[in-house]
Amino acid sequence: MAHVLGIDIGGTGIKGAPVDLETGQLLAERVKVETPHPSVPEAVAAAVAKLTAGFEWTSPAGVTFPGVIEDGVVKTAANVDKHWIGTDARELFSKATGVPVAVINDADAAGLAEMKYGIGAGEKGTVLMLTLGTGIGSALFIDGILVPNTEFGHIEIRGKDAERRASEIVREEEDLSWGKWAGRVDEYLEHMEHLLSPRVIIIGGGVSRRSDKFLPLLTGLRARVVPASLHNDAGIVGAAMAAPAG
Ligand code: BGC
Repeated sequence: MAHVLGIDIGGTGIKGAPVDLETGQLLAERVKVETPHPSVPEAVAAAVAKLTAGFEWTSPAGVTFPGVIEDGVVKTAANVDKHWIGTDARELFSKATGVPVAVINDADAAGLAEMKYGIGAGEKGTVLMLTLGTGIGSALFIDGILVPNTEFGHIEIRGKDAERRASEIVREEEDLSWGKWAGRVDEYLEHMEHLLSPRVIIIGGGVSRRSDKFLPLLTGLRARVVPASLHNDAGIVGAAMAAPAG
């Protein structure tokens, strides 16, 4: 089962493409649709079903979700409609698409992809991946093994959820300069470093393509801070990796 459909649900967009699991490469141009508003389960499931049908997909698929996922059930929904909480997303998406589906946290998926095919490949010890997007997602690895659902975007910094200060969407919404935003990211990473002492911190999300604008402005971290190499495709690839065996 080397070819698997990966679908990455974010607070802003839903992206999908078939993935070659031998190489981690997308097999076709990715398709992106906007996350429906309100992002209620039925509307998102319909979008996922349309995307799946668009690829004429009939074998297993993996789907990411921006919240804590336990056995396919959504436990938190910070940046999507609260009706998701308690929803069996695995069952919902399987029914809507007609194919067997697995569901995984979006940052965990992105981390799995980076650790297998990307910048984290072969890294031992503690590796922390942080995705800076609509929220801040986290994926923690110890010797390549994922500790799922870590949710480090919600630690408190200066009385606020870290993701309300240092996510990419906040940089855009508050029209922050790269310097100002990099200061916030720096403070957040220092905090994470105090807690976990990772050897490597991988910065993911779409903004990782522009890492030259902010990574050089970070100061004094012991960890090696590197941009993700799969950029925004990591979620799709990681989703495919999580799909049930067909
Ligand atoms: C959610 C996480 C998610 C992250 C990135 C956070 O608000 O709580 O589950 O991984 O956003 O989408």
